[in-house]
Amino acid sequence: MKFFVDTADVKDIRELNDLGLLDGVTTNPSLILKSGRDIMEVTKEICGIVEGPVSAEVTAMDYAEIMREADVLSKIADNICIKLPLTLDGLKACKALTSDGRQTNVTLCFSANQALLAAKAGATFISPFIGRLDDMGFDGVELIAEIRHIYDNYGFDTEILAASIRTPDHVKRVALIGADVATIPPATLKALVKHPLTDKGLEQFLADWAKTGQKIG
Ligand code: E4P
Repeated sequence: MKFFVDTADVKDIRELNDLGLLDGVTTNPSLILKSGRDIMEVTKEICGIVEGPVSAEVTAMDYAEIMREADVLSKIADNICIKLPLTLDGLKACKALTSDGRQTNVTLCFSANQALLAAKAGATFISPFIGRLDDMGFDGVELIAEIRHIYDNYGFDTEILAASIRTPDHVKRVALIGADVATIPPATLKALVKHPLTDKGLEQFLADWAKTGQKIG
């Protein structure tokens, strides 16, 4: 499973990229707002840090304007992936952009039928939002399982990009189901390494090692 980081914070992106953990980045208008930076400037900087796809979201709603914004965003760098709304105009733009060889990420997916439409429109990625479904009292991870099943039934190439991930348990569950990608907030991604028994075991090993009085090398 590929790991994308869900942020527009370049400090976090650099840190995770230096660890060798990043396969890409996703941003959205709320994350751009949080960064306090200009979308073109910060997206260009991010594209220079990671080699993989960097999702940048259009904000237009009608087809012609979506295509115009997609052209502007595409010029930022070769690894830009155009993030599109899950609307009829967004799907039309998805078909046109993927036919033109561009990477696309259809976002704000909350149902298996929406994911089916995105695959038929040739999307590179579909982004089902797990956490926001959980917030409504549903089990968001179940949607990933449904989409996996449908895509495998028909051999769709669209990659399932599990989004709106809130916990390490979300990451484990979508990996078990076979999501192609998880886009994870920086703190959650770093939390994957933590286990109390790892900390406890290290503490014990280091204490015993000190008692040996030895040094390696
Ligand atoms: C994905 O591309 C979105 O940017 C993101 O995962 C949304 O997550 P949220 O529901 O925590 O805002």
